[in-house]
Amino acid sequence: MSEDVFKKIVSHCKEYGFVFQSSEIYDGLSAVYDYGQMGVELKNNLKKYWWDSMVLLHENVVGIDSAIFMHPTIWKASGHVDAFNDPLIDNKDSKKRYRADVLIEDHLAKIDDKINKEVEKAAKRFGESFDEAMFRQTNPRVLENQTKRDEIHARFAKALNDSNLEELRQIILDCEIVDPISGTRNWTDVRQFNLMFATEMGSTADGAMKVYLRPETAQGIFVNFLNVQKTGRMKIPFGIAQIGKAFRNEIVARQFIFRMREFEQMEMQFFVRPGEELDWFAKWKEARMNWHKSLGFGDHKYRFHDHDKLAHYANAATDIEFEMPFGFKEVEGIHSRTDFDLSSHEKYSGKKLQYFDPELNKSYTPYVIETSIGVDRMFLSTISAAYAEEELEGGETRVVLRLPAALAPIKLAVLPLVKKDGLPEKAREIIDNLKFDFKCQYDEKDSIGKRYRRQDAIGTPYCVTVDHQTLEDNTVTIRYRDSMTQERVAIDKLSDIISDKVSMKNLLKTIR
Ligand code: GAP
Repeated sequence: MSEDVFKKIVSHCKEYGFVFQSSEIYDGLSAVYDYGQMGVELKNNLKKYWWDSMVLLHENVVGIDSAIFMHPTIWKASGHVDAFNDPLIDNKDSKKRYRADVLIEDHLAKIDDKINKEVEKAAKRFGESFDEAMFRQTNPRVLENQTKRDEIHARFAKALNDSNLEELRQIILDCEIVDPISGTRNWTDVRQFNLMFATEMGSTADGAMKVYLRPETAQGIFVNFLNVQKTGRMKIPFGIAQIGKAFRNEIVARQFIFRMREFEQMEMQFFVRPGEELDWFAKWKEARMNWHKSLGFGDHKYRFHDHDKLAHYANAATDIEFEMPFGFKEVEGIHSRTDFDLSSHEKYSGKKLQYFDPELNKSYTPYVIETSIGVDRMFLSTISAAYAEEELEGGETRVVLRLPAALAPIKLAVLPLVKKDGLPEKAREIIDNLKFDFKCQYDEKDSIGKRYRRQDAIGTPYCVTVDHQTLEDNTVTIRYRDSMTQERVAIDKLSDIISDKVSMKNLLKTIR
């Protein structure tokens, strides 16, 4: 896929009521978006798919919904006040600000592209007999680029780990990275910038307390760890899941809903015995990848990316990346967070956050595996994977969202062939019977062909057409989105045919 397709997806999202720019009539607010009438349905279905996979399928995972505002000391304890920073650099000519790490990552990606193009060219030239591994090990141009890449990458990883801002700048200079706008290399020093939004709580300026909009939902889980454990009589290992808004003052906010300033997270903290965390990390890694793959978009669209730089709280971390139209990008992070957060909250709050393990007959601070996925990124990956432009017979084209039926905003469209002769009334009667089971839409405007196209474009898996025969024998034509085939079925069979295929239960059952 290409940037071109990405632009089409963005305009498709707007045209069909999935995603709008926030405050659009005031020219928008950068990196903030609203979900429209179709978008909210898809988003809710994604959240349900995640929530049910956590709290229905795991007896030992429960959910909470904690507040966005929390005591400010929480962010001191979590390390966000001191360490939740991005390294920023300005170009003196364009006056534009960039993340230094992103400039270097983009540069590395360009070298990867060069290598991959060389490999692709050779694969075409040699055909069946092509040995890619051998080619990568011996081709001088590939080797030269790979060595260059590895050197930069090693310097970059070390600079990040050491928080060495001067070295980050030096890498940018040594790699001759230019500002895409001014085309110059006139860079400032690299500085740290905290990503948390702050506001004031309380009525008077003097008495007001500085509070933050949470940059992750996880801390709401940590500070409620004992509340849930005690009131729910939870035994380790157990998990707490939460879906909610998070806020980050992102500097490089780009690529539509990929990087937003207000977004939503689905996080689960899994509390385990110290020493068992890496086994659980491996288990959750596999479980989460299976959850993604069960959507059926193709296993090749996902990969793990293990972290070079571990966050201040982690002893292992990986990302699940998805092939977005602009390349493989992080959708979910899985982290082994040790006992960092609970221990730190113990220290700052002065309250014990330990668990008494009846099997071991001792108390300890549990270790934590976290799975953290952005709803909006999941939304973007889903729409990108589902979006297809197809040539039909007779030279016509259609845009179709091949969404898994359980995620589709509308499950069934009911279309009277004409707006008279009692057909609209019959169509409404069908909807009135089925609307308790799943989301239906009535549409009588334009030709039937146009109405099918509209439903394809929002991913509706089933359309039924009510015609004159319906009035005689209570049958309708059902049309399937993906194959575009049609068949005649009895109205009283519709619920059975559709309910099963659109049910979340059946999607959840496919998780390996
Ligand atoms: N509690 C751990 C944590 O917050 P993270 O890697 O910073 O880890 C987790 O974020 C997930 O949240 C990411 O994988 C991504 O899907 C989503 N996310 C993070 N920042 C985002 C942003 N600015 N816009 C949209 N989604 C974001």
